[in-house]
Amino acid sequence: MAAPVRIALIGAGAFGVGLLETLQQIRDVELLMIADADVARAKNIASRFAIRHATSSALEAIRTDGVNTVVIATPETMHVEPVLAALDAGKDVFVEKPLAHDSASARKLVKAWKDSGRILMPGHIVRFEARVQATRARLANSGAVRSICGFQHRARATFEKYKRVHPALVIMIHQIDLSLAFAQSKVVKIDARERFFLEPDSPSNVWAWLEFENGAIASLQMGYDLECASPAAPDDAMEIVTEKERIRIAFHDEGYEIADKNGCSTVDLCYTQALRAELEYFIGCVQTRRQPTIVTPEDGLAAVEIAERIIAAAKAK
Ligand SMILES: NC(=O)c1ccc[n+]([C@@H]2O[C@H](COP(=O)([O-])OP(=O)(O)OC[C@H]3O[C@@H](n4cnc5c(N)ncnc54)[C@H](O)[C@@H]3O)[C@@H](O)[C@H]2O)c1
Repeated sequence: MAAPVRIALIGAGAFGVGLLETLQQIRDVELLMIADADVARAKNIASRFAIRHATSSALEAIRTDGVNTVVIATPETMHVEPVLAALDAGKDVFVEKPLAHDSASARKLVKAWKDSGRILMPGHIVRFEARVQATRARLANSGAVRSICGFQHRARATFEKYKRVHPALVIMIHQIDLSLAFAQSKVVKIDARERFFLEPDSPSNVWAWLEFENGAIASLQMGYDLECASPAAPDDAMEIVTEKERIRIAFHDEGYEIADKNGCSTVDLCYTQALRAELEYFIGCVQTRRQPTIVTPEDGLAAVEIAERIIAAAKAK
């Protein structure tokens, strides 16, 4: 029988709850502890998931007896400290994307991970999406990648929360990560633009062009454009052209629609299933003491480095 994976969650916000909902469905997982800076929220979420301990202190959660694994879903600028503390305490770590809020911090985390001998996996969820996995397998025999084109449109409501960091770091990072995974080549040149359509101090739209050493070009765009309260995934799309074929990924779930008194709506099966696959994979790695290969801390660092260069290029215009 596989050893139980005993988890402390740090950061029980919107996505932390999504992580708990998924983790509680996975075999051999025991949810032991929740830490959230807002202790009332920590207690509330703990009681909702029948978790015995709740605290406001990330350190206390990390050091709790019996906890062997730490899942971190604090805001983007607050990943570094808990990851370092958890690795230092000898715990395995899953940390939401971005790995860190800047490349210097991300490099520090990669070094700490290497020194620790523990497992660290950044939450680049889209790598676990079924169509992305099929694409990666297909690209092995598809000839050289020539172009990648990606779109992400998010509801304006999500801008209110995520304007706390640059969109390249919090939303476009998914497309950046996929572009690196698909192109399998070094980025040699970057150009970018940003626009402030919603507020003067926080960019709402970003465009980026990445030129790879092998000649491929990625053209990426994201914006908080949608007036509707649409879920995140259905408007994302990516097209990859190789010397042999064109692959198009539409991250929506045609064929599953709910009609009720509020009209028609779709249910996000894309990210939900990817999250389950991602966390099952991470838990499997912890149990078998295998370092993750589908996505690695170095991949997390590479995505942060490119996001940072995109932000600098956009600001320079
Ligand atoms: N993989 C994905 O598709 C995906 C989707 C959404 C969010 N995320 C990522 O998940 C992370 C969390 O996002 P969110 O939307 O849940 O944010 P959120 O603001 O809803 O939640 C963050 C929580 O962390 C708590 N917190 C802040 N500082 C803390 C600290 N030092 N110790 C303990 N708790 C602390 C806050 O009180 C809050 O409850 C971010 O990195 C975000 O980019 C990933």
